[in-house]
Order: sequence, then C-alpha cells, then structure tokens
Amino acid sequence: MTLSNTHESPAQAAPPPSATQAVDDAMTTRHSIRAYLPTPVPRQTIEEILAVAARAPSGTNTQPWKVHVLTGASRDALARALCAAYDDPEEAARHSEEYAYYPTQWVAPYIDRRRKVGWDLYGLLGITKGDKQRMHAQHRRNYEFFGAPVGLMFTIDRLMQQGSWLDYGMFLQSIMVAARGRGLDTCPQAAFTPFHRIIERHLGLPDGEMVVCGMSLGHADPAAIENTLITEREPVSNFVRFHE
Ligand SMILES: Cc1cc2nc3c(=O)[nH]c(=O)nc-3n(C[C@H](O)[C@H](O)[C@H](O)COP(=O)(O)O)c2cc1C
Repeated sequence: MTLSNTHESPAQAAPPPSATQAVDDAMTTRHSIRAYLPTPVPRQTIEEILAVAARAPSGTNTQPWKVHVLTGASRDALARALCAAYDDPEEAARHSEEYAYYPTQWVAPYIDRRRKVGWDLYGLLGITKGDKQRMHAQHRRNYEFFGAPVGLMFTIDRLMQQGSWLDYGMFLQSIMVAARGRGLDTCPQAAFTPFHRIIERHLGLPDGEMVVCGMSLGHADPAAIENTLITEREPVSNFVRFHE
C-alpha cells in the first residue's frame, strides 16, 4: 500500500454499509490483548499501520508523536532490563513516573471500574487476592510485551503541552484500530512509565524527549485465557446529556 500526500476530495460520500461495518468492527473488536504468539509482524505492515495512524488529527497539524519500534534483539534487551529492574525491589523503588497518568485521589465511579477490570483479569487467571507472587508475575508480563514480537515506545518533546497529549491519544487509538483492520492486536501500556530512565537510555533519547507510554503489537494467542476478557462499558445514556 502506498499512501501519497494527495488525497481524494475531503467532501466524500457516506461510506457503503460494508465500510461502516468494517470501521465499527475494527473499533469494537479492539481489546487489550495480554498474550501473543511469536509470529513476526512484517516491517511493511508496521509501517503501513503507522502511516494510516498518522492521519490522526492534531492541533494545527503539529503531529507531536515520535515512535520507536522495537523488534528482535533490541526488544529482547529492553524487556530483560525492565524485568531485572522490576524483579529487584530495591532497584524498582529507585524508579517512578514523571507524569501522573492516574489521579492521586481515587473516587467512585473510577475506582470501582478500575477494581473491576483488575479482578476480572485476575479472576480469569485464577489469581486470588493476596497472591503477591502471581500478581507480580502477571504485571511483569507487561515488560515482556506480553510475548508480542513488536514493542512500540511513544515519546514526545517535553515542551509540548496538554493539547498535544490529547492529539497523542488519537494517534494511539488510530494505531490500535489500524492494527485490528489487519487482524493484529495491541495492548497500550502505561506500565512502562515508572522505568522511563531505562527506556530513555535504551532508545538513546535526547534530554528534551520523554516517554509517553508503550504498546505491544502482534498476533493474539487464541488459547490464552486472559485474552477472553471483555471489559464493560457504560451505556450511552449514562455518560451523555443531549442539550436541545
Ligand atoms: C494509555 C493506556 C495505558 C494502559 N496501560 C496498561 C498497562 O500498562 N498494562 C495493561 O495490561 N493494560 C493497560 N491498559 C489497558 C486498559 O486496562 C484497558 O484499555 C481497559 O481495561 C479497557 O479494556 P480494553 O482495552 O480491553 O477495551 C492501558 C490502556 C491505556 C489507554
């Protein structure tokens, strides 16, 4: 596929129903996948996904995203370094996030949703409350990219502001949807953020660039129980008010 800079007229007709279905399917079949087959993803496919996702909008077309694609030895070396840090309590304590992804004060309904998804995942895996060892092992899977052959690291210029982070979210979702359109799966991961110094070193980031989050990309393992997790969503009526 080639994506040229010349595009069809912006005033395009409504897509045919099959296209509507395809777009909806790509979005609604996207789930965070936490176990992958080792099947490689061709570089061309990764480039296609990123080219499509880069059509995401951004304020004044600033396109604040920077993507680091990790495969092979580079992916493995980063995973090893992250797992080693995570497994060593003294070392892990020396690392912390540089930006707050989550609120410092948890209130309903957010805390309830957070707890539910956590216990639903652990429930599927048979991890019971207090089983710290298995919880550690499951969280550690983040640092192995859940076995995915492709790890993506997303960075941003530090001088960019909140608006660019909003743009970034649209870009990330576009990657995940474009991946689905090609039968691939993803898991966006904030779990990397405490270990940003290890990642910065591994990627050779300049001082002015910071880690936003990571993402696993690959073919879902259909036999993995954790991949059967379907998270809940509030009905539209619970989060929308129509003002007429
Ligand atoms: C920015 C971002 C960071 C996330 N970080 C992690 C993570 O570190 N590890 C993980 O297993 N899931 C992570 N998730 C996945 C969420 O838990 C998941 O999106 C949510 O529970 C809804 O489930 P779904 O993605 O399957 O629809 C993250 C999601 C987002 C959007």
